[in-house]
Amino acid sequence: MPFGRIPRFSPSFSPKEALLSARYLLRDGPDDEIVAKFETEFARYIGADHAVMVPSARYGFYLLLKAMGIGEGDEVIVPAMTYFAIPAMVPLTGAKPVFADIGLQTHVIDPAAFEAAITPRTKAVVPTHLFGTPCDMDAINAIAKKHNIKVIEDCAQSTGARYKLKRVGNLGDCAYYTFGLTKNITTLSGAMITTDDAAVADSVRAAIDAGDFGDKNKLAKEVVTGLAMFVATHPKVYWATVHPAVVVGNKLGKDPIHERFGEAECRYDAVPKKYQTNGRARAVQAAVGLSQLGRIEGLNGARIRNGRSLDEALAHVPGLTVPAYPEDAEPIYMSFVAHHADRDGLARELRSRGVDTTVGYMSDLSDHELFAEYRSPCPNAARAFKELLHIPVHPNLREKDLRHMAEAVRASVMALS
Ligand SMILES: Cc1ncc(COP(=O)(O)O)c(C=O)c1O
Repeated sequence: MPFGRIPRFSPSFSPKEALLSARYLLRDGPDDEIVAKFETEFARYIGADHAVMVPSARYGFYLLLKAMGIGEGDEVIVPAMTYFAIPAMVPLTGAKPVFADIGLQTHVIDPAAFEAAITPRTKAVVPTHLFGTPCDMDAINAIAKKHNIKVIEDCAQSTGARYKLKRVGNLGDCAYYTFGLTKNITTLSGAMITTDDAAVADSVRAAIDAGDFGDKNKLAKEVVTGLAMFVATHPKVYWATVHPAVVVGNKLGKDPIHERFGEAECRYDAVPKKYQTNGRARAVQAAVGLSQLGRIEGLNGARIRNGRSLDEALAHVPGLTVPAYPEDAEPIYMSFVAHHADRDGLARELRSRGVDTTVGYMSDLSDHELFAEYRSPCPNAARAFKELLHIPVHPNLREKDLRHMAEAVRASVMALS
């Protein structure tokens, strides 16, 4: 980036896809045909038999629980560090969420903690491939099989990641994905479920088909937001506009990006009332999805190249802990999450050197007021929540940006010591 200013994130949505969106938003054609095509292509990409577009991953997860007959008196094991809307869905079925700790450096569910959380009421586990990192699926599947527990993969941050050469989403009983504007691939808004179980797919599809189509005006707003993100994070614009605003905002105690996107609500004070339960997919979402799926290897490939470069460059910085990955996992580096005891100091130092970072929006849910009834200590999630920092890893970084970042991290850590 000119002048060494590096945004925390950059969208995969392109101006070409904005034009494509406009065409589909303005036409009056049917929605179903191209949605079915996207579902088929997506299922093929993952290696699953069935895929169904859903309005949100959380609602897809809820429908999967219902489709598998999970409800009153049952327990569902979720990692302590995940997106809060997922455990929030479990009580809506009558079941209880049970938190299991994560690996401190992998950030994904620890198989031993999963096994320890099992009771005779456990019906499902949600291995969440957080930050693009696949869970240790052999261990999880072996434990699940022994106890007759369903495996629902959370691929919301990991579309395209692989474990033992198979794509995540093809490793358990069923899976969900999400494609908001900040994800590695986007459909503007919307999500997907996949499964090999025809009865589960039919049950989800019946619930979706009973709802109304998504609102075209809202989708048009997403197109505008996507374009605005593209422009704002463009090197020629970012250094002179957004970065100074972020620096000044933080000096005044407010982060404008957090304010705009709600990321600062790491401790969420309420479960949102709206679960996006309504919204059959529109043609425009599928058209953008097909375009993005056609580019996914390039988009993920750039993340992987950048992530590996950071893994190598930051491996031996004193006081900084870099991520680790389960054996046989091929992460897509949706995020590059490092730990430092003075995380906020590190973020401040990096900002002063032109690198913007974020604490993201994951929390230790096992010690969260929203889940007070289901509290259980998960020390790794508690520590990660205090120490983690997302270092930029998005596909638009260049070699020299990566070099600049590595130097900035080293200098920032030194300045704090
Ligand atoms: C790990 C994880 N799971 C689930 C979700 C929920 O996705 P949605 O907003 O589509 O419900 C998210 C959202 O970003 C997420 O990051």
